[in-house]
Amino acid sequence: MTASDAEAKAAVAAMFDRSAATYEDLGAAYFGPMGRALVSRAAITRGSRVLDVGCGRGAVLFPAAEATGPSGSVVGIDLAPGMVERTAAAAAHLPWVTVALGDAAEPDFPDGSFDVVLAGLVLFFLPSPETALANYRRLLRPGGKLVFSTFAAQDPLLSAVVRALTPLVPPEAAERPVDRFKDTSSISAFLGDWDAVAYSGQPIETSFTGKDHLWTWFWSHGMRAFLEAVPADRLEEAEAIAYRVMDAAAGPDGRITLHTTVRITTAICRD
Ligand SMILES: C[S@@+](CC[C@H](N)C(=O)[O-])C[C@H]1O[C@@H](n2cnc3c(N)ncnc32)[C@H](O)[C@@H]1O
Repeated sequence: MTASDAEAKAAVAAMFDRSAATYEDLGAAYFGPMGRALVSRAAITRGSRVLDVGCGRGAVLFPAAEATGPSGSVVGIDLAPGMVERTAAAAAHLPWVTVALGDAAEPDFPDGSFDVVLAGLVLFFLPSPETALANYRRLLRPGGKLVFSTFAAQDPLLSAVVRALTPLVPPEAAERPVDRFKDTSSISAFLGDWDAVAYSGQPIETSFTGKDHLWTWFWSHGMRAFLEAVPADRLEEAEAIAYRVMDAAAGPDGRITLHTTVRITTAICRD
């Protein structure tokens, strides 16, 4: 890993640390349904040993723990201490679940220690997803399963807000990691060493009470990195621009609904 890769990873972790207190905690169901969809596709059997990389606040981890039951085990790792502390506290009543600080790019476990590796909306944040996938193959037993999610389509309103604010941020901030791996061809390029690769799209609807709710929510996840790139003295201007874009999408009662499609990829570790 180069020094700039390490810096990029630390910056992502620090940004998620600043988002951790409100991440999926603002009364808008977004990561929760996506995590449940991922675990449903994983078809985890009771007693399985599961690793959840980039576990965040547990959108994938908790449904996975329900699926394994106490005869299995679920380990969640994340690089943001604020995510780890909160998720570990929420999982304290589940003795078969462990949550710890750890790097999704290089999870530090013995070879073949898991039946299933899960990665919900994290691969696009890693400097080298191909290296991470090679590490997951090593961690899985032969025939073990990898299941991860990426975004297939963002809501047009969210994209319109990003487009409207792009002139306010440096060019490198305009390239949002979540836009990587939108097409299956960009994903399949990494999965040559895996068997039975399959993709499915899951539409998710997320409802907001109004513009304030949506604007606050933008700061509670990866979009925060983009918003933090707006110079402090132009933030008020950014907010006004975003609210004007949101105006067009609000219903008569002020409510706004986002439609997102998450793509779930499953693959089997070749024997
Ligand atoms: C979009 S969130 C997804 C969280 C969770 N999997 C979910 O579905 O809600 C991305 C998470 O990946 C974590 N993350 C980013 N880079 C990471 C890395 N290199 N190692 C571990 N976690 C990382 C972030 O801290 C954040 O919690």
